[in-house]
Amino acid sequence: MALIAQLSDPHLRDDGADPFHDPAEALLQAFAQIAAMEIKPDAIVLTGDIIDRSAKGYAHALPVLHRAPVPLWPMPGNHDDPAGFRIAFDGWADFAPDHLSFIAPIADLQLIALDSTLEDGRPGLDRSRLDWLADRLGHAQTPSMLALHHPPFATGTPHLDRPGFQDADALSRLIEGSAVCRIIAGHSHRAIQTIWAGCLSSTASAIGHGLSLSLSGAEPHKPVRMAPAFDLHAIGPKGSVSYQIKLDQEPQ
Ligand SMILES: [Fe+2]
Repeated sequence: MALIAQLSDPHLRDDGADPFHDPAEALLQAFAQIAAMEIKPDAIVLTGDIIDRSAKGYAHALPVLHRAPVPLWPMPGNHDDPAGFRIAFDGWADFAPDHLSFIAPIADLQLIALDSTLEDGRPGLDRSRLDWLADRLGHAQTPSMLALHHPPFATGTPHLDRPGFQDADALSRLIEGSAVCRIIAGHSHRAIQTIWAGCLSSTASAIGHGLSLSLSGAEPHKPVRMAPAFDLHAIGPKGSVSYQIKLDQEPQ
């Protein structure tokens, strides 16, 4: 069995102008909770937006991330700077040459971390990333978790769905019948679950600020105060179970 803590969207700023709680403190609180678990997770997967777009580089983020109590796999989001990310996290993962995707073994599971921010900043995949994924899935016998920053599925919220996810159908065709048994993402700053491409697929709440929910799309999409939280995924031969752990409570 693999036990994976998914932390997402800390949006670490370097100007102290966080609109609500301090995400670096929330990240350290999550690390403390993970370190105190009776069965410690095998790894942390950080599903993007490690820094906020307002930040200049990763110098403020790296000392916090180095305090992770278990191996941490960093993924980029649309707020991250691809060139700066590649330099900052050199040696943390074996990134593909022309995007920041990678694979990593976590216990008896394979993590497939797929970079879903296109060069122009839109969500989705291009030929290079689809070919990279097809190549990995073609060889994979090991049960695999696919992690992305952007959810490839429709969330039912117009603000998130309007930009679309380029080549979501091609991704779905690659996944169906493959070794992928679970799909996780971030970006929504909110817990959402659905079945997509035959897999339980979800987004995690943010370590940083929340985002407003408007099912009609009529209300503005804006940062809101929300308890930081992370997900814990237990994936074994009999299936997967996921938990949401909020950080505004006593250690659970
Ligand atoms: Fe985000």
